Amino acid sequence: MSFYITTPIYYVNAQPHLGHAYTSIVADVACRFKRLCGEDVRFQTGTDEHGDKIVEAAAKAGDSPQAFTDRISDLFRQAWPLLDVEPDTFIRTTEPRHISTVQAILQQVYDQGDIYLGSYSGLYCKGCERFLTEKELIDGNCPDHQTPPQMISEQNYFFRMHKYQEWLIEHINNHPEFITPERYRNEVLAFLADPLEDLCISRPTSRLTWGIPLPFDNRFVTYVWFDALINYLTGIGYPDGPDFARYWQEATHLIAKDILKPHAIYWPTILKAMGLTPFHCLHVHGYWNVNETKMSKSIGNVVRPGELVKEYGVDAVRYFLLREMSFGLDASFSTESLVARQNSDLANDLGNLFSRALTMLNKFANGRVPEPATPEAGDQELTAAAQRMLADYTAQMERFSFNRALQAVWEVIGLANRYIVVNAPWELAKNPDLAPRLATVLYHLAETLRLLSLVLQPIMPATAAKMSAALGITETPNLVSQGRWGLSRPGTLLTLGPPLFPRRDKEGEQKPPATVKENPAAARAKNAAAPTPAAGTVEQITFEDFKKIDLRVAEVVAAERVEKSTRLLKLTVKAPEERTIVAGIAEYYQPEELVGRQVVIVANLKPAKLMGIASQGMVLAAKGKTATGETLVLAGVSGQMPPGSRLS
Ligand code: MSP
Repeated sequence: MSFYITTPIYYVNAQPHLGHAYTSIVADVACRFKRLCGEDVRFQTGTDEHGDKIVEAAAKAGDSPQAFTDRISDLFRQAWPLLDVEPDTFIRTTEPRHISTVQAILQQVYDQGDIYLGSYSGLYCKGCERFLTEKELIDGNCPDHQTPPQMISEQNYFFRMHKYQEWLIEHINNHPEFITPERYRNEVLAFLADPLEDLCISRPTSRLTWGIPLPFDNRFVTYVWFDALINYLTGIGYPDGPDFARYWQEATHLIAKDILKPHAIYWPTILKAMGLTPFHCLHVHGYWNVNETKMSKSIGNVVRPGELVKEYGVDAVRYFLLREMSFGLDASFSTESLVARQNSDLANDLGNLFSRALTMLNKFANGRVPEPATPEAGDQELTAAAQRMLADYTAQMERFSFNRALQAVWEVIGLANRYIVVNAPWELAKNPDLAPRLATVLYHLAETLRLLSLVLQPIMPATAAKMSAALGITETPNLVSQGRWGLSRPGTLLTLGPPLFPRRDKEGEQKPPATVKENPAAARAKNAAAPTPAAGTVEQITFEDFKKIDLRVAEVVAAERVEKSTRLLKLTVKAPEERTIVAGIAEYYQPEELVGRQVVIVANLKPAKLMGIASQGMVLAAKGKTATGETLVLAGVSGQMPPGSRLS
């Protein structure tokens, strides 16, 4: 199967921003997914370089149109590798191969009588570079530019678009996949309910010279949209290159809602007039706003992808954009929501699962995939969930429902984290008779991670590569041959790598490691000052006193040793907001056995600094002597409760 996906070719009057980055990342994710499924893939992007807007922007910058377009086009070309976006072709509409293709197509359509000279009076919007209909105006202004269009009367060439209207309606009705999501298909059909006007496809050279000359009348240049849409053919070698025959049938165009009409109406009718089959489908996404406001240069809130990547890393940005936008609807960007997702989904859920599982495989299975014994119900539940995820993920990715695909993946990540808590491999490791059980649990974790690295590959290629390297996987990822449970080979050597994602504080800063040294004498004194009093010998308090203590159920989402301390662990707990608590339990608990566990905290204890880390609360534990010596056990509740539940 072949797959050909295109992004819009971007205007060079603006530099790459979040909106361009989103479309290009989506195209890249779709390509990587198809490649993962073993398909023959082609991905094209590029720049749209003719027209009034470009001439104006070049003049403003004090450049010739050619020098200006060379420069900005290069900025787009350089933006994609930073985002791990890897197009196969980058096309520019000022390239000779494109110009000659556009002219050949114009000549063909003119010769067959589908382009004619007419005169036109109409309301022209310079910003849109097109004539607007009365119906489109809002209070006499262009709806996109909020400026009044100019009345222009001139001779021009027209494409007989109207002739193909009935065919187009029928095609859309017979091919539900032609325009998706459905809301945009409905929008196009509603527009086609009224008669289509023919499309003006020229501009007199008196008004514009920066365009492709009409081959049959050099007093005119080609209207920028007629020129631009044809890039989708030029880039694959239309009419007789082998790539055209190989890919055109499967052409998938990806756009945002702003350019629906040229793609859903002009383009298929032009293709029909040329005698070509239309593209396979058009996927339309919504718009990114920034902090709920339209992104614009004048407001000064334009988000630059290069800066985001530098700050947060490419995979966190790719993940966020795909997870946060429901494909087809608008979404709002903010650094707070990016940081929140990075902390909760990436550092806590995925990152913790990965590092805990690998640490335990390392510690309890000599750093190799163990041989599993017969699975129990809980193991089978994890297997079944992973299998469901594979099916669900594939179906959602095919439909461009990236956020749903990721939801399916994160359900399994959550389940696997709970599986660790429930099966407590560190407990199993204490009893040699339970070695087969321990091996089975660890095998299930390794296998879950292997499948996760596979499905995450299109979205976070660098992270997936780190995961599979740690898991000792050497094969090129392939969903068809490797997307099944049970293919991890016992004996495979694993490597423990650095954490996948750093946690960040709310402002987006990476959390600094603790640097202040614990004063050992003070620590000893603190311990000594807390002997266990006999029950009944402690001062009595009133209920009012007791009510002052805010006891809460908290869930540990991250745990790490405090550098240079033998006693302290730094815990990040959810209660329900996240907070840091430094607890003196390192001699009794390993960090990896705490994550996912529910504890009880004193939530309203005055914050205190321990080893330079602000501790916001206290974890409750029972300490006492048992047959094996002094021990400490964390307090908990006897069932699972929502984090933040109050104890009274
Ligand atoms: N040159 C034309 C396209 C010709 S294709 C034959 C053009 N260029 S553009 O630079 O304005 O790019 C528009 C596209 O950029 C949108 O369709 C979308 O893919 C992307 N986006 C620009 N701003 C966007 C947002 N704020 N949000 C999401 N995507 C946006 O139109």
